[in-house]
Amino acid sequence: MPENSSLENLLTETRSFPPSPEFAAQANAKAAMYDEARADRLAFWAEQANDLLTWKTPFTQTLDWSDAPVARWFADGTLNAAYNAVDRHVEAGLGDRVAIHFEGEPGDTRTVTYADLQRDVSRAANAIAALGVESGDRVVIYLPMLVESVVAMLACARLGAPHSVVFGGFSADALRSRIADAEAKLVITADGGYRRGAPSALKPAVDEALEGEGAESVQHVLVVRRTGQDTAWTEGRDVWWDDALESADVRHEPVWVEAEHPLYILYTSGTTGKPKGILHTTGGYLTQAAFTHKNVFDLKAETDVYWCTADIGWVTGHSYVVYGPLINGATQLIYEGTPDTPHRGRWWELIEKYKVSILYTAPTAIRTCMKWGEDIPAKFDLSSLRVLGSVGEPINPEAWMWYRRVIGGDKAPIVDTWWQTETGAIMISPLPGVTATKPGSAQVPLPGIVADVVDDEAHSVPDGGGGYLVLSEPWPSMLRGIWGDLERYKDTYWSRFPGIYFAGDGAKKDDDGDIWLLGRVDDVMNVSGHRLSTTEIESALVSHEIVAEAAVVGAADETTGQAVVAFVILRGEHADKAATEDGSAEVQTALRNHVAKEIGPIAKPRRILVVPELPKTRSGKIMRRLLRDVAENRTVGDATTLADSSVMDLISAGLAGPA
Ligand code: WTA
Repeated sequence: MPENSSLENLLTETRSFPPSPEFAAQANAKAAMYDEARADRLAFWAEQANDLLTWKTPFTQTLDWSDAPVARWFADGTLNAAYNAVDRHVEAGLGDRVAIHFEGEPGDTRTVTYADLQRDVSRAANAIAALGVESGDRVVIYLPMLVESVVAMLACARLGAPHSVVFGGFSADALRSRIADAEAKLVITADGGYRRGAPSALKPAVDEALEGEGAESVQHVLVVRRTGQDTAWTEGRDVWWDDALESADVRHEPVWVEAEHPLYILYTSGTTGKPKGILHTTGGYLTQAAFTHKNVFDLKAETDVYWCTADIGWVTGHSYVVYGPLINGATQLIYEGTPDTPHRGRWWELIEKYKVSILYTAPTAIRTCMKWGEDIPAKFDLSSLRVLGSVGEPINPEAWMWYRRVIGGDKAPIVDTWWQTETGAIMISPLPGVTATKPGSAQVPLPGIVADVVDDEAHSVPDGGGGYLVLSEPWPSMLRGIWGDLERYKDTYWSRFPGIYFAGDGAKKDDDGDIWLLGRVDDVMNVSGHRLSTTEIESALVSHEIVAEAAVVGAADETTGQAVVAFVILRGEHADKAATEDGSAEVQTALRNHVAKEIGPIAKPRRILVVPELPKTRSGKIMRRLLRDVAENRTVGDATTLADSSVMDLISAGLAGPA
């Protein structure tokens, strides 16, 4: 179980905030939903699927679990995701409703209605089809936060071509390995995007990725013009987005697909070096994305302005920027840039300007704003906010209370939503208007979701006990596997406790039976709400010529949740060189840049410690727990199972020395 001081105070937290009668009276969510779902879980989900989506062919079977752990939901129904997100709203007379208020980092704006979206998505679908993409072909999307990013995803969905969005902060190497694994036919990118006040190029990374081995499947690159910067061009392969769309027809008949047709692949870090392509399909995924978006955020599509600050490169951007909100016909804000450009009040200024009423963000962002000081948000009118969401990592009670008081004016309910790339949609969260919220706890599985905390033998722990978070029944938006590797899917999620899904998170039940998430129990780190794998960073480090061995741990960090700390053994004379002050700085820079090149800047270690040995058990397994003690400046714990118990003394002595 992860140990740190903020978790200590989390477990003694006893405050509780019941919903106000006014909020409860108007809330979408009702307490009766829990009973209804408990009485007949499948009937409950079938009802949601019918209420929230428009089906081309209705389904007759809700769940087929005969091939467990691969689920089939609503399998004989057909539908189209883009039609559900866009066209049907226009057909219902809502074409003039704003779908997206776009604000670029430099301050340029765009207002996109559902009718605009329908034209653009149809054009893009025609343009993408003209480049040879057919139903089932994979398209990699490598874009900043732009309207075109949403359009590109929906255009793929319209064609039945699964998209695989790669976060724009990933390196060319990381992009290439994802293109290769998905065998993508098309890459959609941009010349660049605005980042901290300057244009930042994106297309060069695509060029570099495609030069390397493994990306031969790509036939074309579609390039959105955002910054207008000089862009290298490969004739015959590269096509400007604007040119392709301009000549494309504004009408496009959506490709009706079966509910289990793949909607997207999204790569995420696991416990091994190779990222996993998490596969999501159409009907079940959209049902749960829409259900949770409507009920967890209490969305009133006619009046709310919703803002989720996540990038489309992460699952939160998929479910709560693209699919959930658009399926529900919401009006939302999309902002391209960083919270501190051109000033640290930019987010609050945007909330005031667009009268944002629902805000969904990550604890890291909240803690960063706390650090900047509450006088900054105090300068803006945030009274439009009525629901606040948190996602990505455990939120400490202090940040929760600050969020509630400073941002939410002491009245907006906070929903702390636990879920994962694999779960596709929110699984554990309070329901606003129903649940009395507790600072720091995600609390209760949503109606229709069955979660538990179990011990090593898969026994449910009593209230007050701690253990591992598991999901005991299949759910509509669950992953359908790991792209191209069914065995890895079974092994990763279904082998730790046979027959139930192992989430990889530690958790505790309080005396009321509410669930408190305690962080990962495997070798996955969570840095600023981004998932990183220790082994992936270790293999990046050892791929550098001067590194003999590496071990990476996530050390507790006040702002980012965890920070990457690497312990490296250097080869031969490099170790001596690193022992000098200049040499040490040089090694640090070289290795940090190397990790940025191999994976992306987000994976750069905060600290790199050069050590003579690594603590290993007799079977050769690195004991990261002991290294975490060092990284968090704690007394080193029990080291008796080490093959050589003097190693920790050697490491500590070396670190205390002049280097
Ligand atoms: C963590 C992000 C505590 C958790 C949607 C999970 C959380 C991992 C919460 C998934 C939360 C996410 N409280 N921990 N509210 N939300 N996590 O795949 O460790 O990027 O396993 O999905 O983030 O990260 P992923």
